[in-house]
Amino acid sequence: MPRKFIVGGNFKLNGSQSSLKSLVDNLNQGNLSTDVEIVVSPPFIYLDQVRKSVRKDVAVAGQNCFSKGSGAYTGEVAAEMLKDIGIDWVILGHSERREIFKETDDEIGQKVAHALEAGLKVMFCVGETLEQREANKTEETVFRQLAAGVKYIKDWTNVVVAYEPVWAIGTGKVATPNQAQEVHKSIRGWLKENVSAKVADETRIMYGGSVNGGNAATLAQEEDVDGFLVGGASLKPEFVTICNAKA
Ligand code: G3P
Repeated sequence: MPRKFIVGGNFKLNGSQSSLKSLVDNLNQGNLSTDVEIVVSPPFIYLDQVRKSVRKDVAVAGQNCFSKGSGAYTGEVAAEMLKDIGIDWVILGHSERREIFKETDDEIGQKVAHALEAGLKVMFCVGETLEQREANKTEETVFRQLAAGVKYIKDWTNVVVAYEPVWAIGTGKVATPNQAQEVHKSIRGWLKENVSAKVADETRIMYGGSVNGGNAATLAQEEDVDGFLVGGASLKPEFVTICNAKA
């Protein structure tokens, strides 16, 4: 079954009311392919502004959410709250959440399951560090991270896996098409063995890590690259080029 190409823009901790207005204006004026699903993800505080101003064929995601819907969890944001303000997606398990904020595989697995139960679609991020790659532990790492999700996820319909090699994030050292395809194919094979052939075939796998307007089209040609999760370049006009990479 053909998988619809998907491009996410993870703005991370960047933006202001005015800069995000300019970014949304550029996207709203962009000539975007109808064959791609586009999701942008501003910081929490700007979600409502972006959702209310961005074109309706572009979805909006939170960059994180908690594993519970309410309670004494100061500073957290619930999946149900994102849904309440019309947000349809959430990014979970990003390497920066894992490395900086020490989120464990199990915490992320629980967050993914809770977000799905709250009605959100989830970009489930996995990826290895340079040390793990150099130690030939890429598959071991990614499969371990996926397994923490499998433990809790009941339905994969609204899950997109985002493979983001940590060594390529924000470094300009994009994975080669072969490197990306190799891991994406392994992820699909692991899903077939550990979930089902249907889930393996239908689950989209995005690549993230130094994607830009110059390398997106080549990466997009790889059989198991079903989209991109873009950081730095999502804040630039070239994000439109990336969105059209498969067109
Ligand atoms: O979530 C996407 C992000 O981690 C990739 O960042 O700046 O390398 O595109 P960047």
